[in-house]
Amino acid sequence: MRPETLSSRISTERLVLEPVRSDFAQSLFDYINDWEVMRWLASPPWPFALADMHQWIARSCAARDARRDADFAITLHGAPIGVIGLVGLGMGPVLGYWLARPFWGRGYMSEAAETLLAQTFADGQSFVASGVLEGNAASLRIQEKLGFRIVNERYIHARPHGRPMPHVDTVLGRGQWCEVRVSSPKSF
Ligand SMILES: CC(C)(COP(=O)(O)OP(=O)(O)OC[C@H]1O[C@@H](n2cnc3c(N)ncnc32)[C@H](O)[C@@H]1OP(=O)(O)O)[C@@H](O)C(=O)NCCC(=O)NCCS
Repeated sequence: MRPETLSSRISTERLVLEPVRSDFAQSLFDYINDWEVMRWLASPPWPFALADMHQWIARSCAARDARRDADFAITLHGAPIGVIGLVGLGMGPVLGYWLARPFWGRGYMSEAAETLLAQTFADGQSFVASGVLEGNAASLRIQEKLGFRIVNERYIHARPHGRPMPHVDTVLGRGQWCEVRVSSPKSF
């Protein structure tokens, strides 16, 4: 990902992806502090405190400055409603995301992910990895629509659960990305 993209706002049809920053902490905390969101994530602690959100944002900003990670707040009418990001940019980026529960089911994450991936592949990336905890049908559906393919199944340590959980690894290459866009350009 080019340095300009890392620190730029990215607009989608209905949303703006904004590099995460500390004044988003309270809103993002209020939304992620929900077991129905948290139970599908691998990394955050549970219970989750506002201080954890501040720490995550500080780490994310440092990783952005080091060009390792690119985390964006998904904003709707100027207010943050979730997060989408790519971590491990130098080594093989991994896509992750979550959306506040009141906004589920309106195609927002499909839209955010498609736009971020378009930018990522336009910047020259060859592959993006992702995945879901077993049973996360909505997230797997989003990835399948984007062209991700399942490449592995394994256990990962899911921190909110405090134990290993079955996980499906997925990957999307630039060739498949282009193929899906050509065959169904208006898939979202
Ligand atoms: C998963 C999540 C990001 C989805 O966000 P969203 O904005 O509601 O997703 P979208 O509306 O863009 O797309 C969801 C798709 O899954 C489908 N879907 C929803 N629930 C489903 C289910 N139980 N089974 C199968 N498909 C389902 C929707 O119909 C839609 O597909 P379509 O466009 O073909 O109709 C959101 O629910 C979330 O943040 N969940 C908690 C955290 C999480 O799971 N993060 C991802 C970790 S891998």
